[in-house]
Amino acid sequence: MVTVTEHYDAYPYPERDPADEARRLITGSPSHPLEMDDALWAGARDWSRPLRALVAGGGTGDGLIQLAQILKSAERTAEITYLDLSPRAREIAEARAEARGLDTITFRTGSLLDAPEYGTFDYIDCCGVLHHLSEPAEGFRALRAALSPGGGLGFMVYAPLGRSGVYPLQEAFGTLFDGLAPDARLGAARELFEAVPEGHPFRSNPGLVDHRASEAGFYDLLLHGQDRPFSVPELLEMLDETGWRLARFAMPGLYDLSTLTGHGADLPEADRMALAEKLRGTIKTHIAYAVPEGAAHHAPSHRDTGLVPHLRGVKPDAAARAVSSGKPLPLRLGSESRALTLPARAAPLLARIDGRRSMREIAGAAGLDPIVAAGLWAKIEATLGPWGLFLYSGLLRR
Ligand SMILES: C[S@@+](CC[C@H](N)C(=O)[O-])C[C@H]1O[C@@H](n2cnc3c(N)ncnc32)[C@H](O)[C@@H]1O
Repeated sequence: MVTVTEHYDAYPYPERDPADEARRLITGSPSHPLEMDDALWAGARDWSRPLRALVAGGGTGDGLIQLAQILKSAERTAEITYLDLSPRAREIAEARAEARGLDTITFRTGSLLDAPEYGTFDYIDCCGVLHHLSEPAEGFRALRAALSPGGGLGFMVYAPLGRSGVYPLQEAFGTLFDGLAPDARLGAARELFEAVPEGHPFRSNPGLVDHRASEAGFYDLLLHGQDRPFSVPELLEMLDETGWRLARFAMPGLYDLSTLTGHGADLPEADRMALAEKLRGTIKTHIAYAVPEGAAHHAPSHRDTGLVPHLRGVKPDAAARAVSSGKPLPLRLGSESRALTLPARAAPLLARIDGRRSMREIAGAAGLDPIVAAGLWAKIEATLGPWGLFLYSGLLRR
């Protein structure tokens, strides 16, 4: 049996070359500071206070580098602890940080089950790790114990339906190639994979791409020795059982039943999210934020006009141009596409979003009556927010 450490030492994940840091920054969810602020702190975190963060199971460093680099670029102070079992993954993450001159990170080799030994943290990132523990509940509990009051968790765990086809192959390869070293397992599995017929659920699932991206991707997807997905009810139960509460999914729209059907409107929210997962059938990972059970937490709102709005993944001038000419904003979600429609009158607000001015200031600069502006902000928030395209944060405001 190949242990988790042996696996990630042989194939550090994701496969990254530190030289690439010179030409691009990989961004995503969770752990983009704007998204963290919006999801965990109602868009109102005081960024003059240093952020103490733990990146638990940081791998080759995608979430780590994103967090450290964005805070550095925003000239915000941070103390970030990277923790991973794999020394080889750590070497790559360290080289990436060095290539960027990021000096706010302390690197540790160890288990996230010991997270509290490294201190307490305002923010914990744990992306793609908890589903690889033999007892995921122990991981959730350990991270909860390492959280400072007022803090929150950004995480990703696998979801079953979008990974349809993965588990039969993982089980078959696991049985057939048990006892082989990682490189021999990879070679044998790649050969056998070619013989898997077209009708296999894996081959019919267009969302599965990691096996084509790299050797590390193939190994992680199809040869993992410890991997369990969570359905929405299983995830909510796990959070509940380990002292956490869901703050929100990174893209709440995916879990919004009303985006799919008018039926079930009177069901409890948890049931509606579970049904949306079943009806969509394509969710591969749950990316979400959680706060301690019982913590005071609320979502940010356009009613608080002192908040600073941001557009993410959409350029303000391009969005304003489309909206002012009556065109919808296109949204592509894997195989699904949606058209997001806003009133043309929202264009002057969209055009002025710069990550620094508050909604009140933008409305004033656009010469809009505050009541009209409030209605338009409400529409922008309701249309773009569920898809992670509209966030509140004072990260860049001085
Ligand atoms: C799939 S990779 C994800 C890496 C990174 N978080 C990302 O999203 O790119 C999983 C990582 O978790 C690490 N890992 C697994 N179990 C762990 C544990 N108990 N404590 C710390 N790290 C662990 C592995 O060594 C590996 O680097």
